[in-house]
Amino acid sequence: MIVADKQRLIVEEINKWKEKHHAIILAHNYQMPEIQDIADVLGDSLALARAALTTEADVIVFCGVHFMAETAAILNPGKTVLLPDLEAGCSLADSITVEQLRKWKSEYPDAVVVSYVNTSAEVKAESDYCCTSSNAVEVVNSIPRDKEILFLPDMFLGQFVKRETGRDNIHIWLGECHVHAGIRPDQVEDVIRHHPKADLLVHPECGCSTSSLYLKAEGVLPEDKTHILSTGQMLKHSKVAQADEFIVATEVGIIHQMERQNPGKRFLAANPEAVCPFMKMITLEKVLTALKEKKHVITVPEQVAGKAKQAIDRMVTIG
Ligand code: 13P
Ligand code: SF4
Repeated sequence: MIVADKQRLIVEEINKWKEKHHAIILAHNYQMPEIQDIADVLGDSLALARAALTTEADVIVFCGVHFMAETAAILNPGKTVLLPDLEAGCSLADSITVEQLRKWKSEYPDAVVVSYVNTSAEVKAESDYCCTSSNAVEVVNSIPRDKEILFLPDMFLGQFVKRETGRDNIHIWLGECHVHAGIRPDQVEDVIRHHPKADLLVHPECGCSTSSLYLKAEGVLPEDKTHILSTGQMLKHSKVAQADEFIVATEVGIIHQMERQNPGKRFLAANPEAVCPFMKMITLEKVLTALKEKKHVITVPEQVAGKAKQAIDRMVTIG
């Protein structure tokens, strides 16, 4: 059987089981094209968290990574949240443990803790606020300016937030996402040289985000063509922008959606090797098994969930 026929049959089965269990499929913008194509809601971390909170479905199949499914389970404990592959983790979330955070907090007892959503539930439970890349600046701006802040775990997003808010009382954890850190400034500059008319879209987790802003400030990159955005904001921008060409500095999975939504526009990966192995673990076969066997159910111990929820509630409310 040819691949397209096989996929069509699996999708039919998925739809059958989805109806039977009254389920919804939430998928992140970095998922494989065939997963993006079956999603009921496709979005960035914030949009998916909000969709998990408001859905009327009984079962949420989370096509993303573990911390996203955990966040959904905390936000909406009445639902069954399924992650099709338990190995779908996140190198950034792994860059800080709850023990490390407790020790860091003890060094700054009066500081407010702002955690990126890419963290474990235990780390969120030790945090005052959560944020995503689309509202990190707004979340930090909502905290009184005289308050010291511990920002974790992404150092590039932390530096971006520090610059945008103009605060010098932000301490930043030195964690990174191995996929975004691997998108280097020299690679981006090289693509820009060959495509000078393109808009440059950079995710704030990228190693090149600092240099892109520097080059913008120096006038090397045109002011109106350089944008630091979450994946959801990138999709919005590529729809409304005048440009025909875009250089995309984030995980390459998003390009499928950009092309789908914008026939006629051209999208170039800043680094075609920026592929998140965790996001790509979710396959159609695994989604079908997850639905049929109702696995893997993601739960968070009540005590941890209760504390983490306060920080997550602030995240979904701000911005
Ligand atoms: P956003 O989709 O929220 O921009 O996050 C990117 C990411 O790395 C998710 O793991
Ligand atoms: Fe984590 Fe990076 Fe993959 Fe996002 S792209 S899930 S931050 S490893």
